[in-house]
Amino acid sequence: MTGTDTNQVLVGLPRHVAIIMDGNGRWAKQRGKSRTFGHKAGASAVRRAVAFARRNGIEALTLFAFSSENWGRPSAEVTVLMELFINVLKREVPQLNKNGVRLRIIGDTSRFSRRLQEHITKAEAATAGNTDLVLNVAANYGGRWDIVNGCQTLAKKVLAGEINPEDITEDTLGSVISLADVAPPDLLIRTGGDMRVSNFLLWQLAYAELYFAEVLWPDFDDHAFAEAIDCFMRRERRFGLTSEQREQMLAST
Ligand code: IPE
Ligand code: IPE
Ligand code: MG
Repeated sequence: MTGTDTNQVLVGLPRHVAIIMDGNGRWAKQRGKSRTFGHKAGASAVRRAVAFARRNGIEALTLFAFSSENWGRPSAEVTVLMELFINVLKREVPQLNKNGVRLRIIGDTSRFSRRLQEHITKAEAATAGNTDLVLNVAANYGGRWDIVNGCQTLAKKVLAGEINPEDITEDTLGSVISLADVAPPDLLIRTGGDMRVSNFLLWQLAYAELYFAEVLWPDFDDHAFAEAIDCFMRRERRFGLTSEQREQMLAST
């Protein structure tokens, strides 16, 4: 990473990076291959990105692997993605443990096959004690689902007389949705050139810096990741305040 020579209010490394890993299909098509080929290459890019995050002291990495809308794809592609998911879970746990990476799956896993659910539970348990990097993989995840799910949790608490409706605040809702225990994403990267959020972490991205890259996910390498981080570090995050206020706050810390 090259740092920056501007004198605006600088931000440090992102603690939490979220990535919409898009472009596997187009990458394969460019090579005259099936979409499956692209998804397999995408899995290698995941390994590379996890290693990069760990090496660079990022605390949490959240990857969008399969959206609640992706069930609508041709069934052969969905089947391949599920098989790939199982294979990756089976294969990668020793490496995750070696590198101190804790794996968690976010999303509605109840729709997955029993076999896949078992592999998820096993991989999460096997890596639960690791503390160098939290790797959240979003599978059958949708931002709207996440918020609705959190609302249901709170509604049940109201019904049980544990809380009053007036007790529901941004903090209480934030505490019952995915990723409640990690800092919200500082940086969202989307590869593949499209500039949209596609129902990813709608609540959690409220103040994330957005970065869109043309590179297709299988080609997302250390250089591309470093470029995204460099760009992030040049941003001025104001959180609704003025530049002057932010400068004063940073000067006093
Ligand atoms: C992202 O790549 C992976 C998943 C959504 C599972 P795509 O499969 O969406 O690739 P493109 O966008 O069609 O190129
Ligand atoms: C977003 O990619 C979901 C994942 C990367 C898992 P899509 O390819 O599904 O998004 P759209 O359809 O282009 O919005
Ligand atoms: Mg896509």
